[in-house]
Amino acid sequence: MSDTVKLTTDSKELELKALSGSVGPKVIDIRKLYAQTGMFTYDPGFTSTASCDSALTYIDGDEGVLLHRGYSIEELSEKSSFMEVAYLLLRGSLPSKDELDGFNNTITRHTMVHEQLSQFYRGFRRDAHPMAIMCGVVGALSAFYHDSTDITDPQQRMIASHRLIAKMPTLAAMAYKYSIGQPFVYPRNDLSYTGNFLRMTFSVPAEEYEVNPVIEQALDRIFILHADHEQNASTSTVRLAGSSGANPFACIAAGIACLWGPAHGGANEAALNMLREIGTPERIPAYIARAKNKDDPFRLMGFGHRVYKNYDPRATVMQKTVREVLSALKVNDPIFDVALQLEDMALHDDYFREKKLFPNVDFYSGIILSAIGFPTDMFTVLFALARTVGWVAHWNEMISDPEQKIGRPRQLYTGPAQRPYVPVAQR
Ligand code: ACO
Repeated sequence: MSDTVKLTTDSKELELKALSGSVGPKVIDIRKLYAQTGMFTYDPGFTSTASCDSALTYIDGDEGVLLHRGYSIEELSEKSSFMEVAYLLLRGSLPSKDELDGFNNTITRHTMVHEQLSQFYRGFRRDAHPMAIMCGVVGALSAFYHDSTDITDPQQRMIASHRLIAKMPTLAAMAYKYSIGQPFVYPRNDLSYTGNFLRMTFSVPAEEYEVNPVIEQALDRIFILHADHEQNASTSTVRLAGSSGANPFACIAAGIACLWGPAHGGANEAALNMLREIGTPERIPAYIARAKNKDDPFRLMGFGHRVYKNYDPRATVMQKTVREVLSALKVNDPIFDVALQLEDMALHDDYFREKKLFPNVDFYSGIILSAIGFPTDMFTVLFALARTVGWVAHWNEMISDPEQKIGRPRQLYTGPAQRPYVPVAQR
């Protein structure tokens, strides 16, 4: 393919540049299109539009490939740790031993939250959805950490990023504790990022709590699988919010709000609820029929993806992790069998094959999280905790880009043309 693309309009022929990334399809540079033709492009849902350039994550949806800074998700989830992946996404390369120790130390020392923030929780109803609480308390961080909201200062940007990554587990665990009426548990610096989160979530002051290493490793892997996924809806939300110069805490709160939706991060909660509703394998065909029925809004939750038209590589790792966790905890969850049979039936069904609908990362994650002891409404909170790493890495990448502009899409206007105002008495 050449490096230019010809576009013919009624009145002229235009040559547009075709830009090449390091891997993946070329993109047509249409920045001058309006100036030269007086026309915009129309692409609701950004199905064919690259909104930015980025060096963080590469996805080949047809082949089922996911790379962070060039490393495959299979290798990272097998050999790395969530803290190492966080470093990789933020800084661009894998850390040396000293760099990793230093990063772990920095994150660990930012895990406490301002004591006054704990009083915010008391303003929420006990039955509030924890994502509602997270939207509020993460946005409120900007009221506490004024010394890291000057986004023109790279040092302050990095401090804000560390604070966000470090404080998310504390805030998430507090949301859970509040909902069940137990006291908040302070972080402990001798534990790993994930072990600390497990302890803040599940321990009580009345007795000792020991972190189960199998659970710690499985949850750490789940965090890796959710760390970043290029320009998904919530990351694009964070970038759009940040493009106006908004402070990082407010931007991440915007990302949390977007992630909450059932078509995005809320799908893991919806997928487990669906599997529980199905309940037994003999009821699966009825649900497959509903998913195929155009007059029924029901969709198979945890199935389908905007980018993957092949098996989501994260779902493969997740399915393997379910087996490990259920066997380590000696749990025999019949819902796992329902999930396996549902996947098998859908993958052999013409509707799902033709539309290239495969299980996504959310299909199996709920089964593991439930076995560990998390209630369903915490699932999306865990996703938000892990995705914070990707969000802050994208936010930093965007702010430090000299070509960065405020995000401002255009539209195809379909309302009335200009008309005279009629006073109310004459209408
Ligand atoms: N069940 C049944 N049919 C489906 C499903 C599904 N889960 N997903 C897509 N389809 C069908 C649609 O009805 C549509 O059919 P049509 O062409 O006959 O109208 C076709 O497949 C394409 O679907 P779109 O909604 O146009 O695809 P889009 O890329 O916009 O949506 C999405 C992707 C939102 C993920 C969709 O597949 C979905 O709703 N899945 C269920 C929710 C889910 O699991 N979300 C998690 C995504 S991963 C993540 O955020 C971590």
